[in-house]
Amino acid sequence: MSSKQRQQILVLDYGSPYTQLIARRVRDIGVYCEVRVFDLTKEEFLAFNPAGVIVSDAGEKPLSVAAPALPDFIIEAQIPVLGIGYGMQMLARDLGGAVLATDPMEDIMARIQVVAAEDPLLGELSDDEDANEAVIDVWLKQQGKVVQVPAGFEITAEAEHWPVLGMSDTERNLYGVHFHPELNKTPQGTRILERFVVDVCGCEKTWTPKAIIEQAVKDIRAQVGTDEVILGLSGGVDSSVVAALLHKAIGDQLTCVFVDHGLLRLNEGKQVMEMFAENMGVNVVKVDAEDIFLSRLAGVSDPEEKRKIIGNTFIELFDEQAAAFNNAKWLAQGTIYPDVIESVASKQGGAAVKSHHNVGGLPEDMKLKLVEPLRQLFKDEVRKIGLELGLPYDMVYRHPFPGPGLGVRILGEVKKEYADLLRQADHIFITELLEEGLYHKTSQAFTVFIPVKSVGVVEGKRRYEYVVSLRAVETVDFMTARWAHLPYDFLERVSRRIIEEIPGISRVAYDISSKPPATIEWE
Ligand code: XMP
Repeated sequence: MSSKQRQQILVLDYGSPYTQLIARRVRDIGVYCEVRVFDLTKEEFLAFNPAGVIVSDAGEKPLSVAAPALPDFIIEAQIPVLGIGYGMQMLARDLGGAVLATDPMEDIMARIQVVAAEDPLLGELSDDEDANEAVIDVWLKQQGKVVQVPAGFEITAEAEHWPVLGMSDTERNLYGVHFHPELNKTPQGTRILERFVVDVCGCEKTWTPKAIIEQAVKDIRAQVGTDEVILGLSGGVDSSVVAALLHKAIGDQLTCVFVDHGLLRLNEGKQVMEMFAENMGVNVVKVDAEDIFLSRLAGVSDPEEKRKIIGNTFIELFDEQAAAFNNAKWLAQGTIYPDVIESVASKQGGAAVKSHHNVGGLPEDMKLKLVEPLRQLFKDEVRKIGLELGLPYDMVYRHPFPGPGLGVRILGEVKKEYADLLRQADHIFITELLEEGLYHKTSQAFTVFIPVKSVGVVEGKRRYEYVVSLRAVETVDFMTARWAHLPYDFLERVSRRIIEEIPGISRVAYDISSKPPATIEWE
């Protein structure tokens, strides 16, 4: 690697659903990388100046449509390139090899042979020490096929009916794998990526939580100088980590505004204040706004309308507070890297688009400038630096909680009576999950309030009370999710406790709908 190249990798996105995963793996290895959409300009590429490029797969479209051509300036830069899936097919096609188009088929698990013992990426890897030849298990893309490698390349992996599953040109440092090393389903995948970014590209593993924090502190100080900064603190992971990071960087120049809309979980408001104001000494202004929110929500049962009211009221109250800090020049936000990638990719037709719904938006006439110190970080990195900054594990690894809070977990009209019942039931469910060691095995778990009355018999008397449903899902990306198969005796205990301990609830259901077609939240 020339000394001028930076210790960072460019992940070129051709629309694979796994592009972000490639970037996360590389960062996990300890090397910084960024995702850029394939139509980036030569100037942007040179400005980024990476030590190597990983070219993503391209989903299911035919190669000619999905991946027009690899930009010339990438090969001309003479830095290492690794193509994955279509990324490899593009390299083969554009450098004079031959690729056969085939119809889309499901990806599959496959055992393939490594046929180049000296290869820097695949050499000497094996998932079966007893086999006569070097074999590895991979998650194989089944669309398109390289049938002839370009001049200068050597075949590094193959299988029956698949003449080229890996290819390398070690002179020019150009590599391709037809399978997905970024997926856990390929057990040697991370090792292959590590060999590429560390051994081939020469990057050092310097991207650690400590280093990330040091850099962020420097950047924040350089950006805001002696100005004051305001942050909307919600108690969620991202805003909590931003608060801790900004506090470390600029101390009292930071003021957090915590708008409690009365739709938080049990004791949540108190915990946020204890954590930040009392323990860490962060300036926090708490706005107790339950009455305002509930009065504006009275009589409203349409979910989108409820979301809008909560979002707008939130911004209105936040702005009122912010206006009182007339010295503040900056508004801090917990934007994270997936938000950035998704908004860029969607503009350009790249990777999958997230359609969600954070609380509100920014006022158009906003005078404050934005400081977004997590803008380059994935959620797992945010969590790691949160721990490094001293935030408690339980806060940093908490399940996501929607901006409108219990507002979308009370079906139909929101009332204080319902919110209070729901908070108690949810507290029992979550406490039991934690005690049973099941909380971190689910991705999101909560209780939903159903405002219909159902009969129950308690202490010999008939009782018509409300119904709640427990909801727990397992998911990686929250775009699809499976209902969590919690043990029956566990569910029974939770149900019994809720009915016995909370007067006002007489029946507990468990939601066994997966997403799709159901969504995770009920509204
Ligand atoms: P759904 O219900 O769409 O949820 O399957 C996917 C993820 O998004 C969260 N969610 C929201 N988050 N404001 C938010 O900030 C919202 O209005 C909202 N609605 C859903 C949900 O909790 C899950 O994690």
